[in-house]
Amino acid sequence: MGSLVLIVLVFVLNSFVMFINGGITSKYVRRLEGTLDMPLDSDVFHIPPGYNAPQQVHITQGDVEGKAVIVSWVTQEATGSNTVLYWKENSSKKLKAHGKSKTYKFFNYTSGHIHHCPIRKLEYDTKYYYVVGVGQTERKFWFFTPPEVGPDVPYTFGLIGDLGQTFDSNITLTHYEKNPTKGQTVLYLGDLSYADTYPYHDNTRWDTWGRFVERSTAYQPWIWTTGNHELDFAPKIGETKPFKPFTRRYRTPYRSSGSTETFWYSIKRGPAYIIVLASYSAYGKYTPQYTWLEEEFPKVNRTETPWLIVLMHSPWYNSYDYHYMEGETMRVMYEPWFVKYKVDVVFAGHVHAYERSERVSNIEYNVVNGICSPVKDLSAPVYITIGDGGNLEGLATNMTEPQPKYSAFREASFGHAIFSIKNKTHAHYGWHRNQDGYAVKGDTMWFCNRFWHPIDDSTSSDS
Ligand SMILES: [Fe+2]
Repeated sequence: MGSLVLIVLVFVLNSFVMFINGGITSKYVRRLEGTLDMPLDSDVFHIPPGYNAPQQVHITQGDVEGKAVIVSWVTQEATGSNTVLYWKENSSKKLKAHGKSKTYKFFNYTSGHIHHCPIRKLEYDTKYYYVVGVGQTERKFWFFTPPEVGPDVPYTFGLIGDLGQTFDSNITLTHYEKNPTKGQTVLYLGDLSYADTYPYHDNTRWDTWGRFVERSTAYQPWIWTTGNHELDFAPKIGETKPFKPFTRRYRTPYRSSGSTETFWYSIKRGPAYIIVLASYSAYGKYTPQYTWLEEEFPKVNRTETPWLIVLMHSPWYNSYDYHYMEGETMRVMYEPWFVKYKVDVVFAGHVHAYERSERVSNIEYNVVNGICSPVKDLSAPVYITIGDGGNLEGLATNMTEPQPKYSAFREASFGHAIFSIKNKTHAHYGWHRNQDGYAVKGDTMWFCNRFWHPIDDSTSSDS
């Protein structure tokens, strides 16, 4: 009888997951179907009514501390007003901020008027309303400022990468919005519109993407990481300035953290210190990014911001066949610092699937000693690849076999994740796959802070 129960138990376990070398490769198989961009006349791309109505409205953090917001929007017919009207909830005193606008050309495309307007000196933990399109077609939105930077303020981040604008992208965004654990800010892991997959990098797909995500980006900040699909480097059609559409359309507060380029920077938000790195800008020794990061890590005060999070596009630990080892050279340069400064978690995109690593490092190799395998390291971050927003390139389904020991969980599905910081010692993390129209929790973990509570928080028994 006992052996029968055991056999049934083994069968049940096996039907959900496959254990290889301690890691888990999920056996959930997503319905395989075409991943198509939503057509241009889709309702999610609709142009707001009214003359010169602001569209593609999005906000991001505008300084290091979280007391500023950059509001961006596009007006199509005319320049229109650069002013943002804003006010605190329950306050009748309306304030004004003034921004700037520009257009740009990309091959045979000319953009609308792209406005960027910083709003500064905001109060923490406050709901603000704001209006754009002042004097013409006005549109009103709202956002919450974060709590004052400090160690024990709970805060919840959403995680989305490689979103694109397919029907799957729409499901991912909807699931994020409907997640009962409400994300307050999105940490976006690069590759936004995938406009570069169209002939001549058809920049109207940058516009449609901006309109598609407005329902979230106008109401909460999205923290931007730059991916390879932001490069838009197309010398054959005379477009030789990398990142042109992205930099014209999306702002980051890079100057506030002493960075010299919009692609790498840092912010504090509530209990978190977030470092954004650039996989497609120079990062070797003596480069500006290297020098900046070298000086950045010692600035992180874990008493003030206990959680140290790093964002990048190209993952360092990735056991899918796609983009394999692309992040390797940056890993070689920076991983010793990640261990030294006890980064809690690294989020990356690029690979169109999901994967979570154990706490491992691989920093002993010195050419002659041959020590080049990842080893368990409780000072190391967990590496999470979440490039599974649902873009038109489809899923990465082929994995290297056997599953490497460092890989704790992997699954080729679309989805999003939530990183919910509870206090200075614990954060709850959950990845949600898009399963048949429902957001099903596919992978969860309680993170223990590496500085304040550096116990073994791995989820598999023999890691
Ligand atoms: Fe990518």
